[in-house]
Amino acid sequence: MQMDFTPLQRVASGISRFPSSLATLKIRDITLSNRLFFPAMGVDLANHDGTFSDALREFLNGMVAGGCGLIILSNASVSRDSILQPKGLKMFLPKHAEALKAFIRESQSQGVVVGIQLQHYGGQGTTTYTRGQALLTPSGIGASSLQKLDPKYRTREMTQADIDLVTEQFVASAKLCSDAGAKIIQLQASNGYLLGSFLSGYSNRRRDAYGGSCIARARMLIDVVTSIRKAIGEDIVLGLRIGIDDFMDEEGQLPEDLKDVMPMLEDSGADMFEASFGVADTFKVLSDRSPKMIGYIYGQVKKLKGYSNVPVGFAGFVDGLPSAEKIISDGIADMVGMARALFADNDLILKSVEGRESEIYRCLWDGKCFKDKYNPRFDRVYCCVNPKYKRPE
Ligand SMILES: Cc1cc2nc3c(=O)[nH]c(=O)nc-3n(C[C@H](O)[C@H](O)[C@H](O)COP(=O)(O)O)c2cc1C
Ligand code: SF4
Repeated sequence: MQMDFTPLQRVASGISRFPSSLATLKIRDITLSNRLFFPAMGVDLANHDGTFSDALREFLNGMVAGGCGLIILSNASVSRDSILQPKGLKMFLPKHAEALKAFIRESQSQGVVVGIQLQHYGGQGTTTYTRGQALLTPSGIGASSLQKLDPKYRTREMTQADIDLVTEQFVASAKLCSDAGAKIIQLQASNGYLLGSFLSGYSNRRRDAYGGSCIARARMLIDVVTSIRKAIGEDIVLGLRIGIDDFMDEEGQLPEDLKDVMPMLEDSGADMFEASFGVADTFKVLSDRSPKMIGYIYGQVKKLKGYSNVPVGFAGFVDGLPSAEKIISDGIADMVGMARALFADNDLILKSVEGRESEIYRCLWDGKCFKDKYNPRFDRVYCCVNPKYKRPE
């Protein structure tokens, strides 16, 4: 009689070849089946009201069937006043949580942990799909790349009332994630979006309690983490996506800025980190897959990990299991994400452990999927190599 193995069981059979990346990982009360994850990737397939759609389910089912231990749903906006793409996920109404329940339950029943990334776009949003208000930023400093796309683009410095309101919005959204059954909530605190822009000396020039020293710049994030942990209790894992270099020269944010901040975030309730790099105005670095860039990024991740007592994940230019294995065994990170490599081939992990490497559709690292997000011709993200999402000519 032929046994049917689940994707995770099939992947686990490769443990002798990939002992580090296929090892389990316990964080709080959850155990990830392996150290590989699909990081947040906004493919813009939600319904126009921000609810989970059949198209997004179909897309993510491909990832669930591909054998990673964790998938993180991307960019669920915490506020109706912060929207970048009309078909991005949202998480500020009960219906947003309700629509996700079945998918999360089914995925987690197969052993794949589902996380939800909560997002406030800050100055990297657009006024196009909101009510035209100025975008919220720490000090009014905007992103020129977004400005070019939005004729009405304008920003303003947040008041204390704005900070309190956004903190409440994050808490309310985190509770909805909990209602939806997610086991992990990830706060997007990198890449120039609102929480990340407070951490960076380039975008945060405030002279009040939220600006100045590294610790003062982290105050809003620490308050958000503390408030969420208080509201959701101890059962859910709280992760932070955090920057290792925004490539804004000496004014930008580096791991060193987080040395004293990371323990404070952990004490406030953070259980894991994901290192990330670049902001909207420097996202071209995502296409620079040179050995020099890879070496530099790995070094920055390792520094961040050195400041952390909880697991640190990382996604950036990883093309498959041999690279992921080396990153973990070299002590650079505890978990490895692959966004573009898994987008290019959802079955990359299974094909690798089953010796079918020659069948893998390999990412070209051209960054075209990323550019689709800002291309007015497209309302979703496509791929150059994956036949499932082939970009129209
Ligand atoms: C099309 C596209 C959409 C993305 N959307 C998100 C997102 O919604 N949230 C986020 O934190 N990162 C997002 N990212 C960044 C990825 O999570 C990842 O950090 C980056 O692509 C580097 O990893 P990779 O080299 O494995 O692709 C996106 C990347 C791409 C290419
Ligand atoms: S569009 Fe290009 S960069 Fe993006 S996943 Fe496909 S091959 Fe890779």
